[in-house]
Parts: sequence; C-alpha cells; structure tokens
Amino acid sequence: MDYNNFYDIIFKRKSIRKYDLSSLDNNILQELLDYIGNLKPMYKNIEVQMKIVTGEVVRNLFPIKAPYYLLVYSEEKEKHITNAGFMLQQVDLFLSANGIGSCWAGLTQPKKEIANESKLNYIIALAFGKPAENIHRDNLSEFKRKAIAEIRNNGEKDELLEAVRLAPSAVNSQPWYFKVDKNKIHAYCVKSNLIKGIIYNRLNQIDMGIGICHLCIAAKHLGEDYIFISDKDALDNPPKGYYYITSIEILEKRI
Ligand SMILES: Cc1cc2nc3c(=O)[nH]c(=O)nc-3n(C[C@H](O)[C@H](O)[C@H](O)COP(=O)(O)O)c2cc1C
Repeated sequence: MDYNNFYDIIFKRKSIRKYDLSSLDNNILQELLDYIGNLKPMYKNIEVQMKIVTGEVVRNLFPIKAPYYLLVYSEEKEKHITNAGFMLQQVDLFLSANGIGSCWAGLTQPKKEIANESKLNYIIALAFGKPAENIHRDNLSEFKRKAIAEIRNNGEKDELLEAVRLAPSAVNSQPWYFKVDKNKIHAYCVKSNLIKGIIYNRLNQIDMGIGICHLCIAAKHLGEDYIFISDKDALDNPPKGYYYITSIEILEKRI
C-alpha cells in the first residue's frame, strides 16, 4: 500500500455521483481485486469478504447510477462494522488515487438473486466506475467540514486529526470526537436519539472506521507506527453525548 500517495489523496478526494457507465478495463479490475486481497484490517480476527458486482444486481434507494459496486460482508463480532469502514476506505482512496470515481452507498442493498452469495452479513457498498465529473477537489475550501477544534480536546495531534477531519461520513455527519492524551488518541462516536439511532448508529460506526483509517494513513505518512488498544479509563469517561469506540496508541517514530 502506498501510504504517501494516499495521504495526498485525503486532501483532494470527493464522492463521485456521476459516472460514465462503460466498463473498466479487465486489468484495472484485476489490480483492484489484488489490492482488496491485501487490505489492512483493524482487527485480524474478523472475517471480511468483498465482492465486485455490476449495477444490475443491486437495489438503490438513493439512486447513484454506477457501473460497479463493491459489496462488503463481515462476520458479526465486536467492532465489525467499524472494521469494515476502516477497510473499505482504503479502497475509496485507492480508486481516487487511480482516477476511478467512488461513492459510499449506504442505501444500497444486494438484490435477492445474489443475497445468498456470502455466508457473512452484508454491511455496505461502495459505488465506483469511470467518473463523469472532476475526480478531485481543487482546494481545501471545497470540503464542507467541522473546524478542527470541534472534533478534539487539544491540538497535540492535529497533524493526524486534520486527516480525520476531511474524511467522508454518511450524510456528512462527521460523528467523531478525539481525546488526545499524550501518545494515546481516544476515539468517540456521537450518540443518536432513539429514532435517529435506527438509521445512524450503524452508519456512524462505519464512519468511525473511515476516520480512523485516515488517522492511521497520516500516522504512517509521518513515520509513526500505531496499535489499537482498549482503554478502560477512556471507555468510562466519554465526552457528554458520545460513546467510546477505541484508542489508537502512537508508538515511537521509526528512524
Ligand atoms: C457510510 C456512508 C454512507 C453514505 N451513503 C451515501 C448514499 O447513500 N448516497 C450518497 O449520495 N452519498 C452517500 N455517502 C457520501 C457522503 O454523503 C459524503 O461522503 C459526504 O457528504 C462528504 O462528501 P465527500 O465524500 O464528497 O467529501 C455516504 C458516505 C458514507 C461514509
């Protein structure tokens, strides 16, 4: 995985919703499949499958007409939804880096005819194909995002958190908040009320995986390694209105 290249892509990627419906070259699809085979999970013990399908075999409530969809399936385990978001965001960036448009598709479902193709649970899809609009943003002002001060308690890890700030999220809700405590970054997700929660709880957990993916790419870019840990104190002391997801411990810089 070329982290340096992906780091740059974080600052210009965007969701692509207009596609040229023609097919992608078989070599490109093969390269994508090879790349998918080497994605980094947050948790190695969760089984995940990804399948490329064409637009005819999915049902779209919100119609993005794309020629291809990457469907993600996962074993149900603790944090499996966040893990899926973490992995699929690597594909979003890979596609953007290679001139292929993509858009997370939270309202897309596999049609009945392919419903039994995986024994795992369907999580979400990423629409993709040749873009029929500019693939990248020209500058940062085109990102509609919260200010950095709204998503963290102090500025000690802003180089990492700026990459999270720009991450995509369902309905651009940006549900993340980070408590920085020396070399640990505790990640929290906003709580939804009962009604909103029916739709957003799941999507926001995917968003958290996406944001954490951007954080990890920024850490690698800065030559830092990291591990995911569960921190009891962070779990017990969430900011008001948020719940704990995980902590990222930044390890000493590689030389
Ligand atoms: C989990 C998830 C689900 C999404 N579902 C949809 C969708 O169903 N339709 C759509 O047009 N965009 C969808 N999006 C794209 C977001 O609206 C988009 O990422 C956000 O508005 C930020 O814009 P940007 O990606 O161009 O930076 C989804 C994004 C995420 C992360």
